[in-house]
Amino acid sequence: METKVYKINDIEKDFWAIDEAAALIRQGQVVAFPTETVYGLGANALDGQAVDRIFKAKGRPNDNPLIVHVSRRGDIEPLVLEAPPETHALMEAFWPGPLTIILKKSGVVPHETTAGLSTVALRMPNHPIALALIERSGVPLAAPSANTSGSLSPTTAQHVLEDLSGAIPMILDGIYPCRVGLESTVLDMSGENPIILRPGGITPGMLKEVLRCVDLDESILKPTDPRHSPRSPGMKYKHYAPRAQVVIFKGSSLEMMADKINDALDEYLGRGLKVGILASDETLSHYSQGEIISMGSREDPAAIATGLYASLREFDKAGVDIILAEWVEEEEEGLAIMNRMIRAAGFHVVDTSR
Ligand code: TXA
Ligand code: MG
Repeated sequence: METKVYKINDIEKDFWAIDEAAALIRQGQVVAFPTETVYGLGANALDGQAVDRIFKAKGRPNDNPLIVHVSRRGDIEPLVLEAPPETHALMEAFWPGPLTIILKKSGVVPHETTAGLSTVALRMPNHPIALALIERSGVPLAAPSANTSGSLSPTTAQHVLEDLSGAIPMILDGIYPCRVGLESTVLDMSGENPIILRPGGITPGMLKEVLRCVDLDESILKPTDPRHSPRSPGMKYKHYAPRAQVVIFKGSSLEMMADKINDALDEYLGRGLKVGILASDETLSHYSQGEIISMGSREDPAAIATGLYASLREFDKAGVDIILAEWVEEEEEGLAIMNRMIRAAGFHVVDTSR
C-alpha cells in the first residue's frame, strides 16, 4: 500500500488532513501521528480488529499491551473500573503530558488492546495534532510507538517512513521533532502502591510532589527476571536498539570513562571495525577518531533525552558496527535515558571504576 505523508504546518489550515486521518481511524485503519514524546501508530482502541492491524504493521508480539490515548480526562471514565483518588491529582498535575497511568480496566476495552491483562494504560498526550486526531476520531486511540517492533522509536515523520513505509496508509507529519524524545513514564496505579514501570519525561522527583510514595520497578536498569512474569511486558523485550551493537562505559570520573572508551576504540579500529562514540559536550575533546556524536550537555539531561534516538539512528546511517556510549547519571531524566540505553546495549555495561 502507498503511505501518504501529510505535513501539518498550521493546524487550522491543514485540518482537512486530520479529518482524513480520523476517517481512516473510524474505518478501522491505522494512522501514525506525532505526540510530544515519540510518534505513535494509532487505531480505535475499542475495536479489536483495528488494534490487530497495529500489531501486524509493527510485527509486535501480541502479549505486549498498548497505551490508550484520550483527549479529555473525563474520557477515561468508561474505560476503567475504578481510579484511586490520587489518579485525579496525577491527571491534574501532568495531563496532557508524558505520563501513562495504569488502572483496572472495564469491559469496554477489548483484550487485543491490553493483551489480555485486567488493566489498561491511559495517557493524554500534550500535542495539538494528537489531541485533534483523537477528538475528531471520536474514539480513544490505542497507540504504541510507530516503529517496527524492537527498533528505535521515531521522533520525526521521516523515521516512521523509514520503518513502516508501505505497511500503513498515512502519517501525519508534525514538522517539529518530538519535544520530549523518549516514551512516556508508565506508572502503575492498579496495585497497593504506585510503581514506575518505565521512566520517562515525568521524573520520580516530579511524581513525589503529588504522591505519598512511588516505587521503581526493579527491572528499570536490569534485565527482567525470567522466573517472574514482568509487570510491564514491554520491558522484557530487547528494545530501543539501533542496528549497531552498543556498549556502555561507566566510570568513577569522566576522564577515566573517556580513557577506557579510547582503549576500546583502538582495539575495535585495529580489528577493522567502524566505531561510533556517543560522547557528551563535557568529554568531546577527549576523542579524535571514529564517528563522534555528542548527546549534549550532562547539565541538561532533558535535552539529551530529546535527541537520543535521533543520534542512535545517525550511527546506523553512518554504518558503524559498534557504538561506545558514555553513561549518564541516572538522576531525574537520566533514569529514562539509561533505561533505554541499557536495553539498546542488551545490558552490556563496562564499569571502568572496578
Ligand atoms: O510516549 C509513549 O508512551 C508512546 C506514545 C506514542 O504515546 N507510546 C509508547 O507505546 O511508547 P509502546 O507501546 O511503545 O509502549 C507501551 C509500554 C510497553 O512497555 C507496555 O508493555 C506497557 O507500556 N504497558 C501497556 N499497557 C500496560 C499494562 N496494562 N500493564 C503494564 N504495562 C503496560
Ligand atoms: Mg515502543
